[in-house]
Amino acid sequence: MAIRIGDTAPDFTAETTMGTINFYEYLGDDWGVLFSHPKDFTPVCTTELGETARLKPEFDKRNVKIIGLSVDLSDAHHEWAKDIEETQGTALNFPVIADHDKKVADLYDMIHPNASDTMTVRSVFVIGSDKKVKLMLTYPASTGRNFDEVLRVIDSLQLTAKHSVATPVNWKSGDDCIIIPAVTDEQAKEKFPDGWKTLKPYLRIVKQPS
Ligand code: BEZ
Repeated sequence: MAIRIGDTAPDFTAETTMGTINFYEYLGDDWGVLFSHPKDFTPVCTTELGETARLKPEFDKRNVKIIGLSVDLSDAHHEWAKDIEETQGTALNFPVIADHDKKVADLYDMIHPNASDTMTVRSVFVIGSDKKVKLMLTYPASTGRNFDEVLRVIDSLQLTAKHSVATPVNWKSGDDCIIIPAVTDEQAKEKFPDGWKTLKPYLRIVKQPS
């Protein structure tokens, strides 16, 4: 069954490049990013995994655990990891699921048969510390994802979770935010004692809370 935003992320136990991992245990109380790669030894995936490894400190800063997935065997992943380090200059520093039986890919609906019935699409699931799915992205095999955008969305999601603010078009960290409609002006006075600007009763601009 398709997964939707707000659903509980399905748990699983899988073989990975860092041994057998239970997903929920791996996440602990942190947030998570689960992302799929169509196949080992493919060019776009190689660049994506190198870049994600380079950005790992940024995910760590946000208490986000990352885990990749490719529908190949663990031995292939280990061989491929050498190519990733050689060509991208960063060693893999997070687990990649060896989903050769497509168990996790099926659980997360990552195979789109009209695109390919053997490879996954490029899925990204951002999972909150409450284990709920907060964001889903789906890219075709031929287009590499923008992991700076994944970090930007995580910043927005975490601000919403902590401070009841939403983020406007093209927002980036440090820009003004929007008080979410569910917060009344009375509640906003407590949450945002420095005030806000009301452009419309439903459009209240506030400095980014820290
Ligand atoms: C790639 O990862 O480079 C790729 C995989 C499948 C189709 C096209 C590109």
